Amino acid sequence: MHDALTSIRNIILETAEKARLETQSEPVPEKPAASQWPIDCKVGPGLEGAIACESQVGYVNGAKGWLVYRGYDIFDLAANATFEEVAYLLLHGKLPNAAELSEYKRRLFDDMHLNDTLRMLMGFPVEEMSVMGALRLGTNLMRQEFTDMDKAAGRPKTVNAICADEDSIAMECQPTGGKRAIYEFKIKNQGDRKKTARRSDRYFEKQSAMEACYHLIAGVSTIIGAVSRIHQGRMPLEPDPSLSHAGNLLYMITGKPPTPVEERIMDIALILHADHGMNASTFASLVVASTLSDIYFSVGSGIAALSGPLHGGANEAAMKNIREIGSKEKVASWVAEKLSKKAKISGFGHRVYKVYDPRAKVLGPLAQFLIHDNPKNQKRYEVAKSLEKTMLASPLALEKNIFPNVDFYSGLVYSCLGLEDELFTPLFAASRVAGWTARVFEYIQKNRIFRPRALYTGDFNKKYVPADQRE
Ligand code: ACO
Repeated sequence: MHDALTSIRNIILETAEKARLETQSEPVPEKPAASQWPIDCKVGPGLEGAIACESQVGYVNGAKGWLVYRGYDIFDLAANATFEEVAYLLLHGKLPNAAELSEYKRRLFDDMHLNDTLRMLMGFPVEEMSVMGALRLGTNLMRQEFTDMDKAAGRPKTVNAICADEDSIAMECQPTGGKRAIYEFKIKNQGDRKKTARRSDRYFEKQSAMEACYHLIAGVSTIIGAVSRIHQGRMPLEPDPSLSHAGNLLYMITGKPPTPVEERIMDIALILHADHGMNASTFASLVVASTLSDIYFSVGSGIAALSGPLHGGANEAAMKNIREIGSKEKVASWVAEKLSKKAKISGFGHRVYKVYDPRAKVLGPLAQFLIHDNPKNQKRYEVAKSLEKTMLASPLALEKNIFPNVDFYSGLVYSCLGLEDELFTPLFAASRVAGWTARVFEYIQKNRIFRPRALYTGDFNKKYVPADQRE
C-alpha cells in the first residue's frame, strides 16, 4: 500500500516537471503592485478580462498553466498536502502547524454532524431530487438550523413539524415529532452545536464568520453523503472519526471505509478543485455576499452556478459523452459530427487556460493509475484518451487553444472509486466550498456591493397603449 501511495505522489511530481518544461518559455509573472482603483481593463462579453476585486486567496495564470493557492503551487499541494491543510490554508492564508491542524480536523469532524438539518432535508422528496438540487436545499436548511437569520423573534419553532419517520407523514407530526424519527446517527455533538449557533447579528464578526466557513466546508460533504445514501435507498451515515475528510466523504457515500489509495485519490481530487480564481460560482457567491446577505446563501448560489454544464456540470456531461461514444474507433466520427454542428464538447476549453489545465494534467494520469484495478473503466479510459488525442489534433487546439480542462478526467477518476455520475458535480462542490468561503470571508472584510452595468440596446420614447388597443 505504501508503494501505491508513493507511486501516486511520483505521478504528480513527474507531471509537475513536464508541465513546467512545457511552458518555461512563458515569462514568469511578477507580483503586482498594490492596485489603484479605478482600474483600467479591457472587458469582453461574459465579463472576460474584468477585474472584480483584489484577492490573496489564489491565482491562475492561463499562459503558464499555473494554479496557485496562497502562494503554493497546485502540484506541490496535490503531491504533499491534505484537503484539510488546503482548506485551512485558503481560509487563514497559511498552512496550519501541527496543533492548528489537529484542532481544525476536530472542528471539521464535529461540524459534519448535521442531524437536524438532515432530518429536515428528509422531509423533502430528496429521493426524486438531483444531488445538486438537494445540496442547495441542504445548505439552506443548515442556515435554518444553525442561525437565527430566518427566525422572526418570538415565533414558535415549527421546523420539527416536518419529519420523515416511518410512523408518520409530514403534516401529521406533532411539533416535536422530529425527535421520534429513527436514524443511523447518534445524538452526540448536537448539544455543542446548539451552543455555538450562529446569529445573523454576529455574521460580520470575524470569528463567527469563520465558524460558518468551517461549518459549510464540513456540512456540504455530509449532505452529499446523506443524499447519495437516500438515492441508494439507504439511511445516512455518521462520519467515522478515524477517517480524513476525504475518507469520510467516500465512507458516507459508499458505506465502506475506503482503502488508503481511494482515500488519497479523493483527497487529491478535493485539493485540485478547491479554488480557481474568479470563476462563475465563486463570483456568484461573492455577489450574494456583497449585498450583506450571508455565507449560507452565498454558498447556495455557488452551488447553483456550479451545477451548469458550462461550469462544474461539465464533468458529468463529459462522462456522458464518453459513454455515448462507446469505443475508441467511434471517436473520430463523433468529434467530426459535433464540430460540424459547432457543439461545445464538455471537458474541453477554458476562459483562462490557453494551455493544458494543470488539474487535468494530474487527473488524467491518476485515472490511468486507477484503471489497472478497474477493468470496467479501461474501455472508457481508452475512449477518453482517443477523444483527447483527436481534439488536440483538431483546429480547436491548434488555432483556439482548446485543451482538456479539470472536468475531462475527474469523472473517470470518480467512476474508478465506484461513484455514480450524479455525484461528480457535487464532489466538485465538496471541494470548491473551501474556495467560496475563503473568498467570501476575504471579500466581506472590505465589502462593496457588486453592481456592474449593462449596455442598454433597447428603445426610448415608447408610449403606453391600453391592452385592448394593442395589436
Ligand atoms: N468544444 C468546442 N468548441 C469550443 C469549446 C469546446 N469545449 N470550448 C470553446 N470552444 C470554441 C467556441 O465555440 C468558440 O469558437 P468561435 O470562436 O468560433 O466562436 C471559441 O472556442 C471560444 O470559446 P468561448 O465559448 O467563447 O469561450 P468561453 O471562455 O466563453 O467559454 C467554456 C469557456 C465555457 C469553458 C467553454 O470552453 C466551454 O463551453 N467548454 C465546454 C464546457 C466545459 O467543459 N466547461 C467546464 C469548464 S472548467 C470549469 O468550469 C470547472
